[in-house]
Amino acid sequence: MFVLLFGPPGSGKGTQAAALASRLGVPHVATGDIFRKHLREGTDLGKLARSYMDRGQLVPDLVTCDLVASRLGEPDALGGVLFDGFPRSVPQLYWLIGHLGATGRKLAAVVNLKVDDGIILGRITGRRTCTNCGATYHVVSAPPGADGSCTRCGAAVVQRKDDTEAVVRDRLEAYAAQTFPCLDQLRDRTPIHDVDGVGGIDEIKGRIFTALAL
Ligand code: AP5
Ligand code: MG
Ligand code: ZN
Repeated sequence: MFVLLFGPPGSGKGTQAAALASRLGVPHVATGDIFRKHLREGTDLGKLARSYMDRGQLVPDLVTCDLVASRLGEPDALGGVLFDGFPRSVPQLYWLIGHLGATGRKLAAVVNLKVDDGIILGRITGRRTCTNCGATYHVVSAPPGADGSCTRCGAAVVQRKDDTEAVVRDRLEAYAAQTFPCLDQLRDRTPIHDVDGVGGIDEIKGRIFTALAL
Protein backbone atom coordinates (compact mmCIF):
# COMPACT_ATOMS: atom_id res chain seq x y z
CA MET A 1 0.00 0.00 0.00
CA PHE A 2 1.43 3.36 -1.05
CA VAL A 3 0.24 6.13 1.27
CA LEU A 4 1.18 9.79 1.32
CA LEU A 5 1.54 11.76 4.56
CA PHE A 6 1.00 15.32 3.37
CA GLY A 7 1.15 18.65 5.20
CA PRO A 8 3.16 21.84 5.69
CA PRO A 9 6.53 21.94 7.47
CA GLY A 10 5.98 21.23 11.17
CA SER A 11 2.53 19.69 10.71
CA GLY A 12 3.71 16.49 12.44
CA LYS A 13 4.45 14.22 9.48
CA GLY A 14 7.67 12.87 10.99
CA THR A 15 6.08 12.57 14.44
CA GLN A 16 3.18 10.47 13.17
CA ALA A 17 5.06 8.47 10.55
CA ALA A 18 6.64 5.68 12.63
CA ALA A 19 3.39 4.44 14.19
CA LEU A 20 1.48 4.73 10.94
CA ALA A 21 4.15 2.97 8.86
CA SER A 22 4.34 0.16 11.37
CA ARG A 23 0.54 -0.25 11.39
CA LEU A 24 0.51 -0.28 7.58
CA GLY A 25 3.44 -2.72 7.55
CA VAL A 26 5.43 -0.58 5.10
CA PRO A 27 8.70 1.40 5.38
CA HIS A 28 8.67 5.14 6.14
CA VAL A 29 10.32 7.05 3.29
CA ALA A 30 11.09 10.69 4.15
CA THR A 31 13.12 12.52 1.51
CA GLY A 32 14.18 15.16 4.06
CA ASP A 33 15.60 12.43 6.33
CA ILE A 34 17.45 10.83 3.40
CA PHE A 35 18.96 14.18 2.38
CA ARG A 36 20.04 14.81 6.00
CA LYS A 37 21.70 11.38 6.12
CA HIS A 38 23.72 12.27 2.99
CA LEU A 39 24.55 15.60 4.57
CA ARG A 40 25.94 13.92 7.70
CA GLU A 41 27.95 11.52 5.57
CA GLY A 42 29.32 14.38 3.46
CA THR A 43 28.33 12.88 0.09
CA ASP A 44 28.10 15.02 -3.08
CA LEU A 45 24.32 14.67 -2.96
CA GLY A 46 24.38 15.87 0.66
CA LYS A 47 26.41 18.95 -0.31
CA LEU A 48 24.05 19.75 -3.18
CA ALA A 49 20.96 19.25 -1.02
CA ARG A 50 22.34 21.43 1.77
CA SER A 51 22.57 24.47 -0.51
CA TYR A 52 18.79 24.28 -1.05
CA MET A 53 17.72 23.06 2.41
CA ASP A 54 19.56 25.82 4.26
CA ARG A 55 17.58 28.37 2.24
CA GLY A 56 14.25 26.61 2.70
CA GLN A 57 14.01 25.83 -1.01
CA LEU A 58 13.19 22.55 -2.71
CA VAL A 59 16.02 20.35 -3.94
CA PRO A 60 15.60 20.07 -7.76
CA ASP A 61 12.96 17.57 -8.90
CA LEU A 62 15.30 15.42 -11.00
CA VAL A 63 17.70 14.87 -8.11
CA THR A 64 14.85 14.09 -5.70
CA CYS A 65 13.02 11.70 -8.05
CA ASP A 66 16.26 9.80 -8.76
CA LEU A 67 16.76 9.36 -5.04
CA VAL A 68 13.20 8.09 -4.56
CA ALA A 69 13.50 5.75 -7.57
CA SER A 70 16.48 4.03 -6.01
CA ARG A 71 14.74 3.77 -2.60
CA LEU A 72 11.60 2.31 -4.22
CA GLY A 73 13.78 -0.31 -5.92
CA GLU A 74 14.82 -1.80 -2.58
CA PRO A 75 13.07 -5.07 -1.69
CA ASP A 76 11.23 -3.77 1.41
CA ALA A 77 9.60 -0.96 -0.61
CA LEU A 78 8.22 -2.94 -3.53
CA GLY A 79 4.80 -3.61 -1.96
CA GLY A 80 4.22 -0.26 -0.35
CA VAL A 81 5.66 2.81 1.32
CA LEU A 82 4.56 5.61 3.61
CA PHE A 83 5.82 8.79 1.91
CA ASP A 84 6.66 11.77 4.12
CA GLY A 85 7.69 14.99 2.37
CA PHE A 86 7.44 13.48 -1.11
CA PRO A 87 6.03 14.31 -3.60
CA ARG A 88 6.49 17.97 -2.89
CA SER A 89 5.87 19.55 -6.29
CA VAL A 90 3.46 18.82 -9.15
CA PRO A 91 6.28 17.44 -11.37
CA GLN A 92 7.33 15.08 -8.53
CA LEU A 93 3.72 13.95 -8.16
CA TYR A 94 3.35 13.12 -11.86
CA TRP A 95 6.72 11.39 -11.84
CA LEU A 96 5.53 9.19 -8.94
CA ILE A 97 2.19 8.40 -10.56
CA GLY A 98 4.05 7.34 -13.73
CA HIS A 99 6.71 5.39 -11.84
CA LEU A 100 4.17 3.36 -9.85
CA GLY A 101 1.79 3.09 -12.81
CA ALA A 102 4.48 1.50 -15.00
CA THR A 103 4.18 -1.62 -12.82
CA GLY A 104 0.42 -1.42 -12.19
CA ARG A 105 0.69 0.21 -8.76
CA LYS A 106 -0.86 3.43 -7.48
CA LEU A 107 -1.24 5.70 -4.48
CA ALA A 108 -3.94 4.30 -2.18
CA ALA A 109 -4.58 7.30 0.07
CA VAL A 110 -3.43 10.73 1.17
CA VAL A 111 -3.47 11.87 4.81
CA ASN A 112 -3.49 15.66 4.79
CA LEU A 113 -2.41 17.07 8.18
CA LYS A 114 -3.89 20.54 8.68
CA VAL A 115 -2.13 23.01 11.01
CA ASP A 116 -2.17 26.83 10.92
CA ASP A 117 1.02 28.81 10.23
CA GLY A 118 1.00 30.44 13.70
CA ILE A 119 1.23 27.06 15.45
CA ILE A 120 3.80 25.77 12.97
CA LEU A 121 6.32 28.47 13.86
CA GLY A 122 6.32 27.52 17.56
CA ARG A 123 6.59 23.84 16.76
CA ILE A 124 9.51 24.17 14.36
CA THR A 125 11.60 26.66 16.32
CA GLY A 126 11.22 24.38 19.41
CA ARG A 127 12.04 21.20 17.55
CA ARG A 128 15.15 19.16 18.34
CA THR A 129 16.29 16.26 16.15
CA CYS A 130 18.49 13.23 16.90
CA THR A 131 21.79 13.36 14.99
CA ASN A 132 21.82 9.57 14.66
CA CYS A 133 18.32 8.10 14.17
CA GLY A 134 16.40 11.26 13.21
CA ALA A 135 13.88 11.00 16.09
CA THR A 136 12.07 14.28 16.65
CA TYR A 137 11.54 16.12 19.94
CA HIS A 138 10.15 19.46 21.07
CA VAL A 139 11.57 21.48 23.96
CA VAL A 140 8.08 21.90 25.45
CA SER A 141 5.67 19.27 24.11
CA ALA A 142 7.99 16.27 23.63
CA PRO A 143 11.34 16.86 25.38
CA PRO A 144 14.36 14.56 24.85
CA GLY A 145 15.92 12.54 27.71
CA ALA A 146 16.98 14.22 30.97
CA ASP A 147 20.59 14.66 29.77
CA GLY A 148 19.35 16.09 26.48
CA SER A 149 20.03 12.91 24.51
CA CYS A 150 17.81 10.78 22.28
CA THR A 151 15.58 8.43 24.31
CA ARG A 152 15.52 5.99 21.39
CA CYS A 153 19.26 5.60 20.64
CA GLY A 154 21.17 7.78 23.16
CA ALA A 155 22.84 10.05 20.55
CA ALA A 156 23.00 13.85 20.75
CA VAL A 157 19.89 15.87 19.97
CA VAL A 158 20.33 19.19 18.14
CA GLN A 159 18.40 21.95 16.37
CA ARG A 160 18.13 21.55 12.58
CA LYS A 161 19.90 24.34 10.70
CA ASP A 162 16.73 25.12 8.73
CA ASP A 163 14.59 25.41 11.87
CA THR A 164 15.12 29.14 12.37
CA GLU A 165 12.23 31.58 12.03
CA ALA A 166 13.62 33.14 8.82
CA VAL A 167 14.10 29.81 7.03
CA VAL A 168 10.73 28.48 8.23
CA ARG A 169 9.03 31.42 6.50
CA ASP A 170 10.77 30.48 3.23
CA ARG A 171 9.79 26.83 3.71
CA LEU A 172 6.17 27.85 4.24
CA GLU A 173 6.31 29.92 1.05
CA ALA A 174 7.76 26.99 -0.90
CA TYR A 175 5.00 24.78 0.52
CA ALA A 176 2.25 27.19 -0.55
CA ALA A 177 3.67 27.78 -4.04
CA GLN A 178 4.97 24.33 -4.99
CA THR A 179 3.60 21.64 -2.65
CA PHE A 180 0.02 22.62 -1.82
CA PRO A 181 -1.04 22.57 -5.53
CA CYS A 182 -0.42 18.79 -5.51
CA LEU A 183 -3.66 18.35 -3.53
CA ASP A 184 -5.77 19.67 -6.41
CA GLN A 185 -4.04 17.30 -8.82
CA LEU A 186 -4.65 14.36 -6.48
CA ARG A 187 -8.29 15.07 -5.75
CA ASP A 188 -9.82 13.16 -8.65
CA ARG A 189 -7.54 10.13 -8.42
CA THR A 190 -6.81 9.34 -4.77
CA PRO A 191 -8.91 9.55 -1.57
CA ILE A 192 -7.69 12.52 0.48
CA HIS A 193 -8.30 12.36 4.25
CA ASP A 194 -8.09 15.79 5.89
CA VAL A 195 -6.95 15.36 9.49
CA ASP A 196 -6.85 18.11 12.13
CA GLY A 197 -3.15 18.19 13.11
CA VAL A 198 -3.68 20.21 16.30
CA GLY A 199 -4.02 18.34 19.62
CA GLY A 200 -2.15 15.63 21.48
CA ILE A 201 0.19 13.39 19.48
CA ASP A 202 -1.78 10.23 20.40
CA GLU A 203 -5.06 11.96 19.69
CA ILE A 204 -3.88 12.84 16.17
CA LYS A 205 -2.60 9.31 15.65
CA GLY A 206 -6.13 8.10 16.53
CA ARG A 207 -7.64 10.50 13.99
CA ILE A 208 -5.31 9.21 11.27
CA PHE A 209 -6.03 5.56 12.04
CA THR A 210 -9.78 6.26 12.07
CA ALA A 211 -9.59 8.14 8.76
CA LEU A 212 -7.79 5.19 7.14
CA ALA A 213 -10.06 2.64 8.88
CA LEU A 214 -7.01 0.96 10.49
P1 AP5 B 1 11.61 17.90 5.52
O1 AP5 B 1 12.59 17.26 6.42
O2 AP5 B 1 10.62 17.04 4.83
O3 AP5 B 1 10.89 19.03 6.34
P2 AP5 B 1 9.41 19.64 6.24
O4 AP5 B 1 8.46 19.16 5.23
O5 AP5 B 1 9.68 21.09 6.23
O6 AP5 B 1 8.71 19.09 7.44
P3 AP5 B 1 9.28 18.98 8.83
O7 AP5 B 1 10.15 17.78 8.95
O8 AP5 B 1 9.87 20.31 9.22
O9 AP5 B 1 7.94 18.81 9.68
P4 AP5 B 1 7.09 17.55 10.05
O10 AP5 B 1 5.76 17.69 9.39
O11 AP5 B 1 7.83 16.27 9.83
O12 AP5 B 1 6.88 17.83 11.59
P5 AP5 B 1 7.48 17.09 12.87
O13 AP5 B 1 6.77 15.80 13.08
O14 AP5 B 1 8.96 17.09 12.86
O15 AP5 B 1 12.36 18.74 4.40
C1 AP5 B 1 13.44 19.58 4.71
C2 AP5 B 1 14.05 20.14 3.44
O16 AP5 B 1 14.55 19.08 2.63
C3 AP5 B 1 13.09 20.91 2.52
O17 AP5 B 1 12.96 22.26 2.91
C4 AP5 B 1 13.78 20.74 1.17
O18 AP5 B 1 14.87 21.63 1.05
C5 AP5 B 1 14.33 19.33 1.25
N1 AP5 B 1 13.39 18.34 0.72
C6 AP5 B 1 12.82 17.30 1.41
N2 AP5 B 1 11.99 16.59 0.63
C7 AP5 B 1 12.05 17.17 -0.60
C8 AP5 B 1 11.39 16.89 -1.83
N3 AP5 B 1 10.52 15.91 -1.97
N4 AP5 B 1 11.69 17.70 -2.89
C9 AP5 B 1 12.57 18.71 -2.78
N5 AP5 B 1 13.20 19.03 -1.63
C10 AP5 B 1 12.94 18.27 -0.55
O19 AP5 B 1 6.95 18.08 14.02
C11 AP5 B 1 7.49 19.39 14.14
C12 AP5 B 1 7.67 19.73 15.65
O20 AP5 B 1 6.38 19.78 16.27
C13 AP5 B 1 8.46 18.70 16.44
O21 AP5 B 1 9.26 19.36 17.36
C14 AP5 B 1 7.40 17.85 17.13
O22 AP5 B 1 7.87 17.30 18.36
C15 AP5 B 1 6.30 18.87 17.36
N6 AP5 B 1 4.97 18.27 17.29
C16 AP5 B 1 4.53 17.31 16.42
N7 AP5 B 1 3.23 17.00 16.64
C17 AP5 B 1 2.84 17.81 17.68
C18 AP5 B 1 1.60 17.97 18.38
N8 AP5 B 1 0.52 17.25 18.04
N9 AP5 B 1 1.54 18.87 19.37
C19 AP5 B 1 2.64 19.62 19.72
N10 AP5 B 1 3.84 19.50 19.10
C20 AP5 B 1 3.93 18.60 18.10
MG1 MG C 1 9.73 15.77 8.99
ZN1 ZN D 1 18.19 8.76 18.14
